[in-house]
Amino acid sequence: MSTQKIYILGIESSCDDTSASVICDGKVLSNIVANQEVHAKYGGVVPELASRAHQQNIVPVVQQAIEQAGITKKDLSAVAFTRGPGLMGSLLVGTSFAKSLALGLNIPLIDVNHMQAHILAHFIKEENGKIPPFPFICLTISGGHTQIVKITDHFDMEVLGETIDDAVGEAFDKSAKILGLPYPGGPLIDKYAQQGNPKAFKFSKPKVGNLEFSFSGLKTGILYFIQRNVKENPNFIKENLYDICASIQHTIIEILMDKIKNAVKHTEIKHIAIAGGVSANSEIRKRLQMAEKHWGWTTYIPKFEYTTDNAAMIAISGYLKYLKNEYSDVSVTAKARLKVTEL
Ligand code: KG4
Ligand code: ZN
Repeated sequence: MSTQKIYILGIESSCDDTSASVICDGKVLSNIVANQEVHAKYGGVVPELASRAHQQNIVPVVQQAIEQAGITKKDLSAVAFTRGPGLMGSLLVGTSFAKSLALGLNIPLIDVNHMQAHILAHFIKEENGKIPPFPFICLTISGGHTQIVKITDHFDMEVLGETIDDAVGEAFDKSAKILGLPYPGGPLIDKYAQQGNPKAFKFSKPKVGNLEFSFSGLKTGILYFIQRNVKENPNFIKENLYDICASIQHTIIEILMDKIKNAVKHTEIKHIAIAGGVSANSEIRKRLQMAEKHWGWTTYIPKFEYTTDNAAMIAISGYLKYLKNEYSDVSVTAKARLKVTEL
């Protein structure tokens, strides 16, 4: 058997982060992320501006990832890239760059499903890190998705339940917008919530199926609650910001925890992972750690840098496909819509 090291370059450009990462035999050597500040003042990602920023960022970001890994591009075994889902203009930048690089270096090109990659980030080899055994359940919570997924093998996934309207990240971001906070508001709600009382205000939870999610009613409830109170006291938000954030966050995390409990009951699987941008949330991380003690689950919480969009998760997915010789043809195209179950 060959003992040659396998170096995979991962490229992520599906939304508003340009990222490149090099991993060697499943271990991360570099993971560079260039965030795009340009969207903050618009209250959301502006697709045109995102693709333009990707074009500016991609060469220096890839160069930095290769340099920081201490290798040269000639050492690379394959180039993996995000094929979708995401914003078409953004995906195209990463896709065409990855194709040309793989062609130029004459190495395999590997397309990766961004949603699968969020989950597969759990297979990055870390010192003292635990890797989930099959089958396990993953709660995938990001700005675009909210799903409970059963993972039977690296690329064998089944969606057990998902949101019927907004994603949980949107619930955080839209609530933040109502409070006048800049985009993306999720991390800010998390920050302010730490100083507030989670029981100060009560918001009602949605009534949907056992494994389904719904956040649009909650968003409207929060909007009316704020409008009502601001009418009586124009300084309501300012005077109660920490308590409002803590109460919103508490309601959202309660909903997520209820659904995971339902999934455990439904599947009898007690290996529980979380993935996606919202898994950076300090409250969900805390609650899952507590669930280990309380309910005997084994939980898998990604390292902070592998929660929001990053290329290390693309590179590890590429590595797992490389081991199976699953390469893409150069005619592969970006796909804005791609289900987590699609290869
Ligand atoms: O996975 P991600 O980086 O991008 C998508 O693929 O959507 O997720 C971004 C989402 C945003 O909605 C952001 O507000 C949310 O993750 N987010 C958080 C936190 N950090 C990021 N939400 C709550 N608490 C956080 N600490
Ligand atoms: Zn994502």
